[in-house]
Amino acid sequence: SRTAAVIPAAGRGVRLGPGAPKALRALSGTPMLVHAVRAMAASRAVRLVVVVAPPDGAEEVRTLLDAYPLTGHDRAELLVVPGGETRQESVRLGLAALPGDITTVLVHDAARPLVPVDTVDAVIAAVHDGAPAVVPALPLTDTVKQVAPRTGAAAGEPEPVVGTPERALLRAVQTPQGFDRRTLDAAHAKFAAAEGEGATDDAGLVERLGSPVVLVPGHEEAFKVTRPLDLVLAEAVLARRRA
Ligand code: CTP
Ligand code: MG
Repeated sequence: SRTAAVIPAAGRGVRLGPGAPKALRALSGTPMLVHAVRAMAASRAVRLVVVVAPPDGAEEVRTLLDAYPLTGHDRAELLVVPGGETRQESVRLGLAALPGDITTVLVHDAARPLVPVDTVDAVIAAVHDGAPAVVPALPLTDTVKQVAPRTGAAAGEPEPVVGTPERALLRAVQTPQGFDRRTLDAAHAKFAAAEGEGATDDAGLVERLGSPVVLVPGHEEAFKVTRPLDLVLAEAVLARRRA
């Protein structure tokens, strides 16, 4: 069996604010995407990493990654392909680039550059033990409220609460999400990206297919860099690792 990691990195990072595409922003002097590629290649099982670049930026990303060659036990083959308008479309394009002998696929956000290798290995192990879809997850710390779909109410106006789901029964999910390759291919083939954002995670598509999805423990350091404060946290985590 061969394992590959697909890294969707085609997003602009609107919530991070103006600047380069999010995956190309530096964390401690090294592009976020390079950290993410190394995090996947750090797992001995991962032999191939497919980076899904911004639609018009595949060449630039290839050149950038060539400046940070993978060495030692981080060695893995690297492919760069152009992405799409939504995350779901980008993942689909990454999956289409996988060679036929890949049987296990990880899908990992470039925006989660600091996931520890033990989390990656735990996901792979659960897939190899027979789970068709495996998701790293953590309990929530914030209580969550449900609201009604927004129907043109002005931003900033108070919003009515519809309900409060029981926090103990909720999990926040991370990546890498791990899959039996045929299951994930089937899910992406059946549910082509709809208008707008598409699905925000891959396991959700597998659920829609009716296949089981299981959770394994996630890790605090697998948090997603989304807003400016997340950059501060990421730099602090890297500084702690160097200490
Ligand atoms: N992604 C992608 N293709 C897209 C949109 C997103 O490959 N068309 C990737 C991002 O590069 C990121 C991951 O999906 O690694 C998770 O998405 P998110 O954190 O939402 O990143 P962005 O979409 O870039 O950020 P924002 O939503 O703030 O614009
Ligand atoms: Mg996004």
